[in-house]
Amino acid sequence: MLILGIETSCDETGVALYDSQHGLLADALHSQIDMHAQYGGVVPELASRDHIRKISPLLEQLFDDSGHNLNDLNGVAYTAGPGLIGALMVGAGFGQSLAWSLGIPALGVHHMEGHLMAPLMDPEIEVPLPFVALLVSGGHTQLVKVKAIGSYELLGESLDDAAGEAFDKAAKMLDLGFPGGPYLAKCAEHGDPGRFRFPRPMTDRPGLDFSFSGLKTFTLNTVNDHVSGADHQLSDKDRADIARAFEEAVVDTMAIKCRRALEQTGVDHLLMAGGVSANARLRERLGEKLNATVIYPPAQYCTDNGAMIAHVGALRMAAGERSPLGVAVRARWPLTELSVPGD
Ligand code: KG4
Ligand code: ZN
Repeated sequence: MLILGIETSCDETGVALYDSQHGLLADALHSQIDMHAQYGGVVPELASRDHIRKISPLLEQLFDDSGHNLNDLNGVAYTAGPGLIGALMVGAGFGQSLAWSLGIPALGVHHMEGHLMAPLMDPEIEVPLPFVALLVSGGHTQLVKVKAIGSYELLGESLDDAAGEAFDKAAKMLDLGFPGGPYLAKCAEHGDPGRFRFPRPMTDRPGLDFSFSGLKTFTLNTVNDHVSGADHQLSDKDRADIARAFEEAVVDTMAIKCRRALEQTGVDHLLMAGGVSANARLRERLGEKLNATVIYPPAQYCTDNGAMIAHVGALRMAAGERSPLGVAVRARWPLTELSVPGD
């Protein structure tokens, strides 16, 4: 079964071909980062328009690269949520129309299930059920018990900002690039971990929820305490030390909560996915601190991509799932509303 996957939930246009037997055959991605960077954040209307501009040429490129063509497809999967509503509508409208014109089924896929399943695109990787998943992206920070594919129990989540959002906002305060996560991580490499100690929010009380907004305020106050000179600038050293302290606090907090989640559920496999799972220090720390096997996707499949949508689409369509004709998308969509494929 050859499935085309389409991802347009935020600021990346992604398309990919996933074959049920042979795995991922090809994927192509266009990032809108340069377009949004001048505004310091994603502008939803610009995102939708750019998806419209890029989706057809990207699909042509995908078919050129893979040697396949439209007539080889058995189904089309697209991200139906959660995400920016206009951006989602572009992928859903395109996917549904294409499937209808080819007389093949279409399926709306959950973006976070796409992230969650991304490490499993590698046929070498098997994770025994149940396992715990740490989903950390620009829009979500969640700890989930995965009882089966499609059966998810929410163990904890951020009560305010998502981890990626906190990285992005802290990076903005430090005058680093956009999106801030990778820039902040790079800057933190030169930082002194002992100079500042930032709080580890909500680790002194039981539970698996997160909160990153206080850390953001703490970062702002530290920045304000150290800006100097007529132009109110931070020195490179102050910037690196603050970035390091911020990253240490986020990474430590996640390690503490992940250890708790594993203890609470009695499982010994942790899967981590989403944009922030690309963070090298987070990977290293979880590997050191957890008495568990830690699994994560290759860096290019941590952030948004079409491959993860094609993958989940192939799995669910093989079980007979279909979405009716129409452009039904959801800005919010709890992962816990999903069901086991075929049930
Ligand atoms: O999963 P993703 O591509 O999009 C959403 O579904 O939100 O995640 C994007 C987020 C951004 O906030 C970005 O700054 C963050 O992932 N990110 C990182 C790193 N790479 C991407 N955060 C920390 N360290 C990184 N290396
Ligand atoms: Zn994402």
